[in-house]
Amino acid sequence: MPVSADQYRQIGRACAGAVSVITVLDQASSAVVALTVSSLVTLSFDPPLVMFAIQKNASSFPSIIASKTFGVSVLGHSQMEAAQRFAARDPHKTAGVQFDRGQVLNVPLVPDSLARIECLTQQIVTSGDHSIIVGQVESAVTQDGQPLLYFARQYGSFRPL
Ligand SMILES: Cc1cc2nc3c(=O)[nH]c(=O)nc-3n(C[C@H](O)[C@H](O)[C@H](O)COP(=O)(O)O)c2cc1C
Repeated sequence: MPVSADQYRQIGRACAGAVSVITVLDQASSAVVALTVSSLVTLSFDPPLVMFAIQKNASSFPSIIASKTFGVSVLGHSQMEAAQRFAARDPHKTAGVQFDRGQVLNVPLVPDSLARIECLTQQIVTSGDHSIIVGQVESAVTQDGQPLLYFARQYGSFRPL
C-alpha cells in the first residue's frame, strides 16, 4: 500500500539536494523560461547525459517539454536569490533578468553559476505526476566554488565533516 502524502513529504524533507536552474527559450515568444530544480542528476558518462524531473503542472512544463535544447545552471552558494526567483510561479519571473547564452547551443544560462551546461533534449519519460527529461551534454563550463544546497525547506551551503 502506498505511503500517505505526509509520509511522502517527509522523504522529500530528508533529501538534501544541489540547486540548479533549467532554462529554455519559449518557441513561440522567444522569452526565457526558467525553473529551479533540485532533481538534476549526472546520468551517464558515455554518452554524457544529465536528467531532471519536472512536475507536469508547472507553468514552464509546456515550454520545457517542447524545447529541443535546454540549459542547466548549477548554482553557487551566493545565488540563493536566483533560486528563489525561478522557483516562483510567476509568468514574469525572467523579465528584466540578464542571462548568458551558450557557447554551442542557443540556450539561456544563469551568469556566474558553478556549472553551465548546454543540452540537446534526448528523451522524455513520463513517470507519475512528473516527466523525466534526459539531455545530451553538448558543452559544459565549470568554475570552482561552493554549491547552493536545499534541505528541509532551507537554503544552505556545504560544510565538510
Ligand atoms: C529548491 C527547490 C527545488 C525544486 N526542485 C524541483 C524539481 O526538481 N522539479 C520541479 O518540477 N519543481 C521543482 N521545484 C519547484 C519549482 O521550482 C516551482 O514549482 C516553480 O513554481 C515552478 O515554476 P513554473 O510554474 O514557472 O514552472 C523546486 C523548488 C525549489 C525551491
